Amino acid sequence: MNTIEAMRERHSIRKFDTDHVMPEEDLQEILDATIEAPSSWNLQHWKFLVIQSDEKKEELLPIAYNQKQVVDGDVTIAVLGDEQANQNADTVFGESVELGHMTEEIKDKVVATIHGAYENEKFGHDEALINASLAAMQLMLAAKEKGYDSVPMGGFDASKLRENFNIPERYTPVMLVAIGKGTGEARTSPRFPLEDVVIKDSF
Ligand SMILES: Cc1cc2nc3c(=O)[nH]c(=O)nc-3n(C[C@H](O)[C@H](O)[C@H](O)COP(=O)(O)O)c2cc1C
Repeated sequence: MNTIEAMRERHSIRKFDTDHVMPEEDLQEILDATIEAPSSWNLQHWKFLVIQSDEKKEELLPIAYNQKQVVDGDVTIAVLGDEQANQNADTVFGESVELGHMTEEIKDKVVATIHGAYENEKFGHDEALINASLAAMQLMLAAKEKGYDSVPMGGFDASKLRENFNIPERYTPVMLVAIGKGTGEARTSPRFPLEDVVIKDSF
């Protein structure tokens, strides 16, 4: 399946084969492709809380307002955004120095700029949402290419998720993505015509 096929064929599936178990290597491969997502300053503002055991999926069910796909899928992944991704800057740009892509002096300037930007809390929050959402999309496309279906979900109680799954304050729950072997058809989900959504040059 090429990228455009995966994009066209991915639609939200809410009915999954409950007997199917995802092999660990498929999960690893999907996640490994997911983390190739781009991110601002390459700060990689994401954590993936993999909810896979029957017990934990059942715990998630009421938190996701009883949307059954969270238990019927092979796995539900809570995509979390890092609101303090500036804390990753030293590591990320330290690697750039080691690779010879920049000098230590430039690195210090970039890292200082990043910390400056993150003094604004709203900036950190927005960046977490933007960048983790890109990873969530990548996750669904990687799953599709590996022969799985998925559904993204914003319908869940973020504070209960945080509490039950011990999510540190630093990470904001962005989306749940249930992944599994689809059994039902996707609901029809037409799109606005291209000419309604594409603006050339200027409004
Ligand atoms: C941020 C976000 C939140 C969503 N939340 C839910 C949800 O809580 N439950 C659900 O069944 N579908 C949810 N969806 C799926 C959308 O309904 C679906 O993507 C949309 O109708 C387009 O259909 P398609 O994904 O089949 O192409 C969500 C999608 C997105 C992107």
